[in-house]
Amino acid sequence: MDILTSVAPTQSLTASWRREGLRVGFVPTMGYLHAGHESLIRAAAAENDRVVVSIFVNPTQFGPNEDLEAYPRDWERDRGICRSLGVSLIFAPDAGEMYPGGFATKVGVRGLSEVLCGRSRPIHFDGVCLVCLKLFNVVGPDAAYFGLKDAQQYFVLARMVKDLNLNLTLRPCPIVREPDGLAMSSRNAYLSGPERKAALILSSALNKAREAAEGGEREASRLTGLVSEVVATEPLARLEYAQAVSTDDLSEVSEISGEVLVAAAVWVGKTRLIDNFILPPVGGAG
Ligand code: PAJ
Repeated sequence: MDILTSVAPTQSLTASWRREGLRVGFVPTMGYLHAGHESLIRAAAAENDRVVVSIFVNPTQFGPNEDLEAYPRDWERDRGICRSLGVSLIFAPDAGEMYPGGFATKVGVRGLSEVLCGRSRPIHFDGVCLVCLKLFNVVGPDAAYFGLKDAQQYFVLARMVKDLNLNLTLRPCPIVREPDGLAMSSRNAYLSGPERKAALILSSALNKAREAAEGGEREASRLTGLVSEVVATEPLARLEYAQAVSTDDLSEVSEISGEVLVAAAVWVGKTRLIDNFILPPVGGAG
């Protein structure tokens, strides 16, 4: 397994693979890898000849009062996980390599970036788009793998790939959960014992809404209302939003028709957690 921290040698190595006709799969991460990341790496390994994982805690996607400094890191463990999963290359640049002096370019997806998490994190998705576009240009993958845990991130990036005619395929992968239902997240490491128990309210609330939808409820406000009612039963949790949006453009829907993303964000103490589910079009598969 190669480990590279600079752009130029990474571009040369992946270019040499492409010249040999090898398919390159790419999993961008901010490290502190868990079973969610591992599922993306496995999916990439199953569909490609070489897998590249990037580990970079990207400063441009963190707001001024967010957890950039506190973001958990464990380089040794991450390296061991990548090696055991057959990763060919870890690209682990520092901020100076990605954003050298004089860096001046902005990238952004209007509309989709401004709703859901974008309301409270106004620069977040511009930072995600910027770093992913750069990483795609460094790695040159045939396919890049993203978790639906961060569904808005996936839909924003899919829009960017389409709008800018980027020559790669994005692969959405299912949410991986703890045995009790909590969606895996590097940020779960921030939770104290009682907070960890309280955090379960998010997946429980979304499950209630999903059951109601599967039972035939078609009014979006009833589903999101259920999420807020359930979250309100947990004193340690505070709902930031619960919304039902179309997966086409992330615009709010009033009726469940077409493919709908039901997403919520909850604060548990100082930790912000997100989770969601996607309802297939009525009469569609699943
Ligand atoms: P990070 O939070 O490290 O997540 C990296 C990838 O793992 C993302 O595609 C995310 O959706 C996926 N992931 C996280 N938890 C998951 C879970 N429980 N189940 C399935 N997939 C999961 O997302 C980022 O980093 C950054 O924004 C990044 C795209 C790397 C840009 O900096």
